[in-house]
Amino acid sequence: MAPPPKESDSTHPGLAEPRTKEDWFAYVFYEPPPRPRLPRYDAYVAMAEDDPERRRLIRSRNRYHSALVLAWTPSVQYFESEITELLDANEMAPPGARLGLLIDGPPTVGKSTLVKMIGRKFEQDLREDFPERFAPERLGAYVPVVYISLADQVTPKQISIAIARYLNVPTGGTKDTIDDRVLTALTACGTQLLIFDDLHFLDCSHKEGRASNDHIKFIANHVPCTIIGTGVDMENSPLLSEGGPTGPVKRNTRVKFPPSSGPRTQTAGRFSRQELAPFTLDSKPEITQWVGVINSLESALALYRHEKRSLTRRHWRYLHDRTNGSIAGLHALIRRSAVRAVKLGTEAITREIMDSIVLSYDHERAYAKVVELRSRQSSNSRSKLDKKSSAAEGSA
Ligand SMILES: Nc1ncnc2c1ncn2[C@@H]1O[C@H](COP(=O)(O)OP(=O)(O)O)[C@@H](O)[C@H]1O
Ligand SMILES: [Mg+2]
Repeated sequence: MAPPPKESDSTHPGLAEPRTKEDWFAYVFYEPPPRPRLPRYDAYVAMAEDDPERRRLIRSRNRYHSALVLAWTPSVQYFESEITELLDANEMAPPGARLGLLIDGPPTVGKSTLVKMIGRKFEQDLREDFPERFAPERLGAYVPVVYISLADQVTPKQISIAIARYLNVPTGGTKDTIDDRVLTALTACGTQLLIFDDLHFLDCSHKEGRASNDHIKFIANHVPCTIIGTGVDMENSPLLSEGGPTGPVKRNTRVKFPPSSGPRTQTAGRFSRQELAPFTLDSKPEITQWVGVINSLESALALYRHEKRSLTRRHWRYLHDRTNGSIAGLHALIRRSAVRAVKLGTEAITREIMDSIVLSYDHERAYAKVVELRSRQSSNSRSKLDKKSSAAEGSA
């Protein structure tokens, strides 16, 4: 199938939330801005401030840095393998027997990005392996991936409407009519992967929460799809409990990715739950993972004078302190620093530049605590040293 018309530079399907299958297809074909071709440094420096060519170069580098590569992190790889395996195991299984997966983690650990990256790759592979399914005469008839981003206090009917809108089926009528259309359409479109992002919005303390959770179970029971969900604090999600609305909530052991001793999964009802945690630096393998992610972002930089691998080798701990191990914080800090390095003409990301960037309130607050702890620790050890030396002086 011919790719949809090329997106103009001003639209970023890769960064917007897909709401329809057309949005999703655009996302599947979207390529971030390529690394700009730069003239030699002396030629760049010699350009006058108001030279339009210089402005064009700055703009294209900013655009490139603002989209900075998404890292295929160990967590993305891990969940890709889990999801692919689930899809394979579910392919010919009857609808009620399909296991789904909930990816549970705090905000900004990269859950939404991860499921979209994996869904995109899944569809790209299908397009390569089965081009006939995507033939022009079948345009939009085969929709292997459906991605629904849920809104706060969403009702069961709104969930069905969101799927209907995505698949371009009529959204009018009673809930039963829409449900019926949606179930038929999901089956007719050959949807294999149904992604629900932000499932924590089906909060049972809200009136509609319980009903909306039951509605997801109802969909899971009736369509031949593998359902992947993301959310925050999903341990007590009714999706994990057996039976209907009043079923007991199973106790969950906390499992985090990267797992320290092999992944463990809790399974209850038809969903398993696994955690996606911020990066930690408690062991050598954890440090290696964090450093690897920094390296993949750093090696994508398009700066004239950036010392190769300086962030990776010298600043990895500082970057963790600044971002609390959050991929969102790391991505934002490197992006912002790159834009500033171009603007100031330093052409390198240094500690000084990173220090001058103000990150999100949460990240800055966490960093202030780390700084405070470190200064308390160092003044404690200084006073211990002082005591020791005055004791030594006293006994001398
Ligand atoms: N794999 C990744 N590589 C690079 N940056 C990432 C990656 N995953 C997430 N990010 C950055 O983190 C930001 C927030 O991620 P998101 O997926 O929205 O987190 P969550 O859904 O857990 O709140 C993204 O916009 C992106 O800048
Ligand atoms: Mg999210």
